[in-house]
Amino acid sequence: MQKKILLLGSGELGRELSISLQRLGQYVIAVDSYAGAPAMQVSQAFEVINMLDGAALDQVVAKHKPDLIVPEIEAIRTERFYEYEKQGITVVPSAKAANYTMNRKEIRNLAAEALKLRTAKYQYAKTAAEFSEAVEKIGIPCVVKPLMSSSGKGQSIVKTKADIEKAWKYAMEGSRGDYAEVIVEGFIKFNAEITLLTVTQKNGNTLFCPPIGHRQERGDYRESWQPFAISPSDLREAEMMAQKVTQALTGAGIWGVEFFLTDEGVYFSELSPRPHDTGMVTLAGTQNLNEFELHARAILGLPIPEIVLERVGVSAVVLAEENGKNPLYSGLEDVLKEPQTDVRIFNKPTTRPYRRMAVVLTYDKIGTDINKVKEKAISLSKRLSVKPGEPI
Ligand SMILES: Nc1ncnc2c1ncn2[C@@H]1O[C@H](COP(=O)(O)OP(=O)(O)OP(=O)(O)O)[C@@H](O)[C@H]1O
Ligand SMILES: [Mg+2]
Repeated sequence: MQKKILLLGSGELGRELSISLQRLGQYVIAVDSYAGAPAMQVSQAFEVINMLDGAALDQVVAKHKPDLIVPEIEAIRTERFYEYEKQGITVVPSAKAANYTMNRKEIRNLAAEALKLRTAKYQYAKTAAEFSEAVEKIGIPCVVKPLMSSSGKGQSIVKTKADIEKAWKYAMEGSRGDYAEVIVEGFIKFNAEITLLTVTQKNGNTLFCPPIGHRQERGDYRESWQPFAISPSDLREAEMMAQKVTQALTGAGIWGVEFFLTDEGVYFSELSPRPHDTGMVTLAGTQNLNEFELHARAILGLPIPEIVLERVGVSAVVLAEENGKNPLYSGLEDVLKEPQTDVRIFNKPTTRPYRRMAVVLTYDKIGTDINKVKEKAISLSKRLSVKPGEPI
């Protein structure tokens, strides 16, 4: 069985997915907006296009006639996916899932209204006047997000009335495309946030990975760890919610379902119908199959007999600090001297401030205090540094 797979998005997650697919004998065409992207380096073919351009997307699909289209990012003209499904192509996990999850309004309406999942209070606003009204209704503090954005772009917290005007402007600037609408959410004072990796299968039950804890800063994750200690009742609630929302969105694959844990129970936050960045912790061998191997099997309809925790692990990110190209890494020897430690360098051709360039992975046997494993990952991630080899 060899499938032709069009991978839309060729970052570090796509790279690991492509490697997993290659190992199962598949053919991958990696797509992104620039040449030399991480997944292109490990795939059989590549295409460079703007994936928000529907005509460009149509052209690539017509040229390669893939069996599967596998989105790795959100910023794609996902409306076209319905048409590709009509042509008999499998969109992973489904056109509906990819299309709904790129718009916070679609997914929130589905989760909160249709499925009655517990979420933060929310209001939408299309104009500055509607926005002030929405903030009034939700109350301060509240979180403001463009409906179309990811990685925290355009997102801010309104802490006092004085923040209202700049939060609106910031959201408009951070909005993807020409879509000028925001969601205002009540601020959840969570004790922790988790990702519940959920696997839906063509023939088989929905499976759950042990929960992953993570810490966010500036809209991106800095460390993630697995397993995250959670009460059995919270876990049951999160799994029920993940089951409902993935079932409603349909299709097979891995999903990163994000939750806030509070004293009042579990809140559904959002989900991505693909491997999740915090799930890179599974590259530390925390599970018998990492999230990319799980996704590869699920989208190919191959069996997943079980998901088992094998060790505890942590991933800590390494970010670039400046603009440049041909990055050079130092400290690799120093970091890899440590036992139970590994590194993934993504081989991105250019750097810019805060761009994620690598992760440090640490692990230990089940039962080890995760905080110790985390401290080690954090301190090692500071010893692995990246500098541009040449100015841009
Ligand atoms: N209502 C809320 N109350 C408190 N904190 C929040 C709320 N919404 C979001 N956050 C914080 O902001 C982070 C990013 O929010 P969210 O996941 O909705 O945005 P995103 O841009 O889609 O992020 P990503 O694409 O990186 O997952 C969350 O992980 C959480 O730490
Ligand atoms: Mg998120």
